[in-house]
Amino acid sequence: MNIGETIAIEFNDFSKNYTKDMIGCVPHYLSLISSFTKHFPDNFKPTSILDLGCGNGNVTAQLIPCFPKAKFTLVDASADMINLCRSQFKNYDVVYANTYFKNFLFKEGSYDLIVAGFSLHHCDENEKQALFKNIYISLKKGGMFSCSDLMISKTNPNHALLLHQWKEFVNNNFPDEKKWTWLMEHYEAFDKPTDYTNQIVWLKNAGFNLIQIPFRKAYWMYLQTVK
Ligand SMILES: C[S@@+](CC[C@H](N)C(=O)[O-])C[C@H]1O[C@@H](n2cnc3c(N)ncnc32)[C@H](O)[C@@H]1O
Repeated sequence: MNIGETIAIEFNDFSKNYTKDMIGCVPHYLSLISSFTKHFPDNFKPTSILDLGCGNGNVTAQLIPCFPKAKFTLVDASADMINLCRSQFKNYDVVYANTYFKNFLFKEGSYDLIVAGFSLHHCDENEKQALFKNIYISLKKGGMFSCSDLMISKTNPNHALLLHQWKEFVNNNFPDEKKWTWLMEHYEAFDKPTDYTNQIVWLKNAGFNLIQIPFRKAYWMYLQTVK
């Protein structure tokens, strides 16, 4: 697979074997995706849910069986990813926004739950901080924000070890090394992971108080917080 010119083009391409590639390329992917439904507060029954960077719908597909009557809003820059969701979720109340996060209108007090699976590492530090503010504003009081992602910056002293272990994992699943080569080109071109410690500070700056990390393996983390 060649590297796309933009995130949207890159993920149009990536959409073709997306779930298989993610399972083989992202350590703990399935645990990190299933975390989205495992750690809700008691009596949490969201009726409006926003999925930021929905991709082919793997996070929403976890949520729908729990909240089949909820209204879902799915945002993604990639038209092909959005189309995969359209065909998968046609029997549910789902609206789509094929746009970049920076162009999405975050309406105040609109959502009970906002989720982001492996999408925020595509945003740089300024975008992430702006996004956290918009997420806080557009949650209802008592609403929850949760995300799964790689949460280590490329300048963190532990990043080299992380890369070493990640390479072993990928080459074990795709022994000819081509997948790892492609993945590192993608990582270089599009991925801007941030240390979880910085993200916690930015979430607090946005207004959140208690930030929890219920699932963590090295820097592969599921984080959640309530407004
Ligand atoms: C790695 S996929 C994650 C998909 C799914 N949420 C999951 O957990 O498997 C990242 C998705 O986020 C989308 N994305 C990345 N950055 C984006 C941005 N700034 N605005 C909108 N969509 C974005 C990509 O198009 C892609 O579909």
